[in-house]
Amino acid sequence: MAPTLPPGFRFGVATAAYQIEGAVSDDGRGESIWDRFSHTPGKVVGGETGDVACDHYHRWRDDLDLMQALGAEAYRFSIAWPRVLPAGDGEPNPAGIAFYRELAEGLRERGIEPIATLYHWDLPQALQDRGGWAARETAERFAEYAALIAAELGDVVTEWITVNEPWVVAIVGHAHGSKAPGISDWPTALRVSHHLLLGHGLATQALSGAEVGITLNLAPVHGDPEAARRWDGHLNRWFLDPVLRGEYPADMVELYEREYGPLDCVKDGDLATIATPTGFLGVNYYTPIRVREDESERPLRAAQVEPGPPTTTMGWEVAPEGLTELLLRVRADYGDVPIAITENGAAYEDPPADNGSVEDPERTAYLESHLAALRVAMDAGVDVRRYCVWSFLDNFEWEHGYDQRFGIVHVDYATQRRVPKRSARFYRDYIRAARGD
Ligand code: FCB
Repeated sequence: MAPTLPPGFRFGVATAAYQIEGAVSDDGRGESIWDRFSHTPGKVVGGETGDVACDHYHRWRDDLDLMQALGAEAYRFSIAWPRVLPAGDGEPNPAGIAFYRELAEGLRERGIEPIATLYHWDLPQALQDRGGWAARETAERFAEYAALIAAELGDVVTEWITVNEPWVVAIVGHAHGSKAPGISDWPTALRVSHHLLLGHGLATQALSGAEVGITLNLAPVHGDPEAARRWDGHLNRWFLDPVLRGEYPADMVELYEREYGPLDCVKDGDLATIATPTGFLGVNYYTPIRVREDESERPLRAAQVEPGPPTTTMGWEVAPEGLTELLLRVRADYGDVPIAITENGAAYEDPPADNGSVEDPERTAYLESHLAALRVAMDAGVDVRRYCVWSFLDNFEWEHGYDQRFGIVHVDYATQRRVPKRSARFYRDYIRAARGD
């Protein structure tokens, strides 16, 4: 690492509420779509749920102590909407708000910057029952929730992510159906994508005065040129263009409308709202995407190609140079946008933590190579301000249950014992060296 980091740059770790908190019925928390989905037989590997997860709701003080010992400078966590507004709107739950206030204060006491995500996929089930993100009113309820949180926590949290990965919520949750709420209908998915973006814009306005961004899962797309262009439009430009340019990409509008009819959920003024200026763009990067022409795949007429090795246990290709490529591309196409890498990391099968340590050389190498790739982009002038490892703890990896371990800290779910892995020690030493300590 070159000696100079931009002033204010922070190295952090990331988690999300449903993946670590547990305590799903404690202190007045309402049901979320992930409670409903994970309790539906056949949806999650092994029938696992986030009921207990890492029990972080009860163990957060120790977790923050550990985070501090590992040298984290920022912590990206998410606020569970149904913990603070059990019915999605209406009466707030003071105990839920108090939990996040104590957490954020606890972070500050330990010298760790809190970065709070408002929507990391756990929609209140009550709002799903009224149509979920397919209904425009959910974007309005989201803005009210954002305003409530800004009023309650705005003195202690000053960095916010509105929505995490709208592509995943819209497409995986509403077209593929393998994530909550488990719907498989492309027109619905497209409507959902628009309402998530609208919710982002409205929430940005509600949080005005703070540092706000949306987190997109972005990836370089390679393969047959036209297929790659469509996939890039689908995954990257469909979200980058409205947020940063105030328009949907014309080629994708045409493609979607040809398949599914007019995108009449897009109302006058929506795009201006979506493009409300933000402080930064959150980027989650794990792997590039490879595609080929495939007429049978609708609507994109392109299929994903299985990558060759090296891959992680998720089957995701390890390609650190993809991070550099992605960041240079965002700058080339969208200008000098301040960037926060809000997630980057890898799942591997780790040995047991029997002797009090976990050797995870592959994850360590993944982090090392991606930090180097980040540095290349920064040296080329990309304005990167945050880098957060996914994840601080092994946790509930959505439909994959607890089998996929992304943590730099091992969690023994039977005892809830935490053991830092070699990657955690690597990261601690890396941060120290970067700070010249
Ligand atoms: C991202 C999610 C995060 C985690 C990682 C592995 O898509 O934002 O919650 O599941 O992938």
